Amino acid sequence: SHVFGFLLLLPGGSANGEDEHANVDWDNLGFGFMPTDYMYTMKCSKDGSFEQGQLSRYGNVELSPSAGVLNYGQASSHLQGLYEGTKAYRKEDGRLLLFRPDQNAIRMKMGADRLCMPCPSIDQFVDAVKGVALANKRWVPPSGKGTLYIRPLLMGSGPVLGLGPAPEYTFLIYASPVGNYFKEGLAPLNLYIEEEFHRASRGGAGGVKSITNYAPVLKAIARAKSRGFSDVLYLDSVNKRYLEEVSSCNIFLVKGNVISTPAANGTILQGVTRRSVIEIAGDHGYQVEERAISVDELMDADEVFCTGTAVGVAPVGNITYQDRRVEYKIRAESVSQELYSVLEGIKRGLIEDKKGWTIEI
Ligand code: COI
Repeated sequence: SHVFGFLLLLPGGSANGEDEHANVDWDNLGFGFMPTDYMYTMKCSKDGSFEQGQLSRYGNVELSPSAGVLNYGQASSHLQGLYEGTKAYRKEDGRLLLFRPDQNAIRMKMGADRLCMPCPSIDQFVDAVKGVALANKRWVPPSGKGTLYIRPLLMGSGPVLGLGPAPEYTFLIYASPVGNYFKEGLAPLNLYIEEEFHRASRGGAGGVKSITNYAPVLKAIARAKSRGFSDVLYLDSVNKRYLEEVSSCNIFLVKGNVISTPAANGTILQGVTRRSVIEIAGDHGYQVEERAISVDELMDADEVFCTGTAVGVAPVGNITYQDRRVEYKIRAESVSQELYSVLEGIKRGLIEDKKGWTIEI
């Protein structure tokens, strides 16, 4: 909190006496981790509430070998333990915008409830995200070159041996400047439909941003990448027939004026970008359906696209299922391009935010 107070007294980004922009090759940002100046830590007290947290210099954390997160995966990040993911955008005038961080706070609360963890309040979460963005302002890429990806984590940090909730919890936030998530950049994605592995099962934790949803798909991703695919699209584990999501993002289909996406029924992550795109599409006159979508529907869709905080709104160029590959025509005036432009415009302060989604800091 000391560092935060100090920074607030010195707006303009050079509070620590360093340059306005960090020394980074801003034109070649990918989604690799780059350490920044400050992180945020907040511990949960015995009564289950979180004490005031603080910013400190970015560095390693110390954990008990018997920490809940290491032993039983009691962790969540929003978003994305639990982890979340949210981004800070630099406006053309240099100021920063956050996009719906309260939605990440709400998702973390849902995840914490599912994983039996206490959780910071929405205000605590949003204030901490603001603090991390401002403290690392020189790492927020110049307007249009990328974003500062902010990663809140919530984990059981106290010791456990028998299976049960941990006696102590830690909420952490760090940040890293990022560009495009996929190495393809903005080129259309090649997706592979996985039949052996499933991302989540009914009654599991697929609907929350539990860290336990991510390691189990690495094998499927590695296999698909070795065959030249960008990422994997998963089917439901019961019927093996309905679309769920991609490892890193949600999926949408376009057919005429109708935009469809798998209903978030507990196995699918309720992406903040997913929700925002659904709302924007409705405002722009599309009929939006959240429902069960059979894999067969991919075969005659006009367009397919993915959404996520990291991924943005990304068009899909082709999808491979069993021995079939369906190719999608990528038009300059596609639905995904239209939705992407509106969403990006709001996030970067280029389009008036009538929804109150952005917070200028
Ligand atoms: C995000 O989009 O923020 C995520 O957490 C997805 C992750 C695979 C990078």
